[in-house]
Amino acid sequence: MKPVKIGLLGLGTVGGGTVNVLRRNGGEIARRAGRAIEIARVFTRNPDKPRICDLDGIEVVTDPWQVVNDPDIAIVAELIGGTDIARELVLGAIDRGKHVVTANKALIALHGNEIFARASEKGVMVAFEAAVAGGIPIIKVLREGLAGNRIEWLAGIINGTGNFILTAMRDQGRDFADVLAEAQRLGYAEADPTFDVEGVDAAHKLTILAAIAFGIPLRFDQVYTEGITRVTQEDVRYAEELGYRIKHLGIARRRADGIELRVHPCLVPARRLLANVDGVMNAVVVKGDAVGPTLYYGPGAGAEPTASAVVADLVDVVRTLTADPENRVPHLAFQPDALADLPILPMAAVETAYYLRLRVADRPGVLADVARILADEAISIEAVIQKEPRPGQTDVPLIFLTHRVQERALDAALARIEALEAVKAAPYRIRLETLE
Ligand code: NDP
Ligand code: HSE
Repeated sequence: MKPVKIGLLGLGTVGGGTVNVLRRNGGEIARRAGRAIEIARVFTRNPDKPRICDLDGIEVVTDPWQVVNDPDIAIVAELIGGTDIARELVLGAIDRGKHVVTANKALIALHGNEIFARASEKGVMVAFEAAVAGGIPIIKVLREGLAGNRIEWLAGIINGTGNFILTAMRDQGRDFADVLAEAQRLGYAEADPTFDVEGVDAAHKLTILAAIAFGIPLRFDQVYTEGITRVTQEDVRYAEELGYRIKHLGIARRRADGIELRVHPCLVPARRLLANVDGVMNAVVVKGDAVGPTLYYGPGAGAEPTASAVVADLVDVVRTLTADPENRVPHLAFQPDALADLPILPMAAVETAYYLRLRVADRPGVLADVARILADEAISIEAVIQKEPRPGQTDVPLIFLTHRVQERALDAALARIEALEAVKAAPYRIRLETLE
């Protein structure tokens, strides 16, 4: 059979990795797909830039439409990123009857509903395994492997850069900015790294996971999103002292009254597997009613781990080229006309435990005042840490762990605590999940 011709848009970390993997493993890939996969054309703005891959024998073009308009190309891999030109090119490829593979979580989270509808209309596939958790095949797991389950919740470390930073802060006491610069050098970070450290990238990924897990539309705008920029070395140390690790988690939970969708730093008991996922590694725990809890672990970013997912999608698409569109796995796992319009719950309705860091005047009665406010709001304290002030300091950190409580009660308590004259800075909270 003739090889399937593909075109690549973008030749950076993921594009370069994809060329390398396709070339190195071409023979094995053809045996799996049933046909060879040939890179017919690649687009880059800048053909003279040094690359991580060898482009010998591949036509390089500087206009992306030369890939999308090429009638011989059956599959377009969008590896540019962002939601502007990437959206136009992906829709353009679909309109021309081409299948699409993309690693672009922002595009899927924000425009996936439109893209999948257009793809269904045109009878083409849009595959996006690389968009979530890098090399971990978590989309396939949720869409196919766990298809017999009612998914109850999932929680994961789904941003490699953020985990790389938190790990280096804990293990090496390194500075945030310095570790972020290293993650950028290694090709882990997004083009705009605030997406990594402010939780936006994880929120894109959680949007996708929740849609596939629960059969709901993609609802990025309703994800509660908080990054790691306010986590300090001090928090990392106190968490350790209390038997926890700080991880940046994406959590999606089905409840009787709706769905929790939230991305934020989280204290996780140090004995949990998720607490021991370090560096650029990602992991996702999925709790299904039939299978129970399952854990998926692997590299969350980087050239070849991500290429591994891109190439798996290419193989999947090639295998199904001859299948009826109606007999393919639906884009969002559930049949498009069977999506449920479940409400996304506000954070005030979420119940969890909390780590609180206050900075207070070092004088008698302050601890009692804070404890009284917590008691008034029916918030039970599990642990308290108060250290001696350092020489010359008049303020001290005061750390609390609370038992589980609704977030609206904690919000009310923190507003009153912040108003106390002895409280010298806005209180900082980190949610705590035992992931039982
Ligand atoms: P890079 O920045 O390394 O590469 C992006 C490529 O797209 C480059 O070839 C660049 O051009 C080109 N490009 C960027 N902006 C434009 C534009 N406005 N117009 C035309 N071309 C453009 O990004 P990555 O490879 O890291 O990421 C690509 C996609 O993969 C993103 O969606 C990202 O979120 C996703 N992803 C990345 C992972 C990673 O570990 N890096 C992991 C999982 C997903 P030029 O060559 O001229 O610089
Ligand atoms: N910037 C992303 C991360 C790339 O660090 O996880 C992988 O999606």
